[in-house]
Amino acid sequence: MNNLFVFGKTVSGDAFTDREKDTAKLVSNFQYGVNTFLLSPRRWGTTSLVKKAKGIAENSKLKIVYVDVHLCRSREEFCERFASAVLTQTSTKMEEWMENAKTFLSRFSFGVNASTDPSSEINFKLQFAPQEQSMEDLLQLPERIAKRKKIRVVVCIDEFQQIGYFQNSLQFQTELRSVWQHHESTSYCLFGSKKHMMETFFDDSSKPFYKFGDIFYLQRIPMEYWVKYINDKFRREGKSITAKQATWIVDHVEGNSSYVQQLSWYVFQRTDKKVDNNILSDALTELVEQCTDVFEARTESLTAYQMSLLRCIADGIHTGLSSAKVISRYNLVSSANVNVVKKSLLDKDLISIEKKETYLSDPIMGIWLKRQ
Ligand SMILES: Nc1ncnc2c1ncn2[C@@H]1O[C@H](COP(=O)(O)OP(=O)(O)OP(=O)(O)O)[C@@H](O)[C@H]1O
Ligand SMILES: [Mg+2]
Repeated sequence: MNNLFVFGKTVSGDAFTDREKDTAKLVSNFQYGVNTFLLSPRRWGTTSLVKKAKGIAENSKLKIVYVDVHLCRSREEFCERFASAVLTQTSTKMEEWMENAKTFLSRFSFGVNASTDPSSEINFKLQFAPQEQSMEDLLQLPERIAKRKKIRVVVCIDEFQQIGYFQNSLQFQTELRSVWQHHESTSYCLFGSKKHMMETFFDDSSKPFYKFGDIFYLQRIPMEYWVKYINDKFRREGKSITAKQATWIVDHVEGNSSYVQQLSWYVFQRTDKKVDNNILSDALTELVEQCTDVFEARTESLTAYQMSLLRCIADGIHTGLSSAKVISRYNLVSSANVNVVKKSLLDKDLISIEKKETYLSDPIMGIWLKRQ
């Protein structure tokens, strides 16, 4: 049986709704070699979108490499994952990528790590020679392979914000840009859902990635698509939900794609034939309870000021956080203090700014805070 409401993994096929314009835009950036920065808050659907666009755009003349750098802790690990993905995903046969490795990475020794999950991509371990030059060889790899095979390559790097945590990150960003900007047959899609960290890579003209390419902010999936999506799934299983109830679900999770699917699932599980108000509120309570441990862990080391500002936003105040009224009501002392606290919460990815308004990054955290 097909999954009904899917969360916790990337979605495709029947579980993927809307994003038609977004998909078309990304596909054309891939086809025409336009570098792209794709940003969104957590769990809105960047990875699913990139995988969908890859599926559409890829052909024998255009190879699209997907690499997730979430677990990389250093530039060496980044370059290793990058080169591993480029080598294996631009070739259809193992002999071919071994050949490419020998040709273009003669300074490295490496071995195949065949013990990994058989369903995942082939991995191999590169051992680095310490010279700076060798790192550049790894970064040049997609362009060299593209030229040799007379194809074009797009390298999509998921969780790209991770490089912001590396030692000497700015220097590494400069190195990446200085190599990649000369590539003619390769383009890059750099994406991630820690929006604030991603923005720091190109937010002023002194930054290496300033004007590197198209900046694409993912938007929420519009309400009408969600209402239809939820309705269709209930109907398919012989249950019913009204448009108003489906809207209630989407509103309560502020349109966060993953939570829409998760809350819909809890509502579905509780429903025999028809959804009612008790079912909706019980399902929401289950969702909040599910998240409680994570929220406690994420807030336990926060200062009283940081908690106050989170509560203020959870109360629905999204602008004027430095106003005298807000400062006195939430004991925030001064507008200078509000700015410091706001920056620290942004850095921790607990809040985000959307069109000059401040929101909690996690909408369920707001409900949790209010219920405490
Ligand atoms: N187009 C879509 N249609 C329906 N649901 C979606 C869609 N995109 C994302 N989702 C929901 O959001 C969840 C997260 O999707 P995905 O992993 O693509 O997002 P992400 O932004 O990459 O998340 P992360 O912040 O973990 O990197 C999915 O499991 C699914 O529940
Ligand atoms: Mg993702």
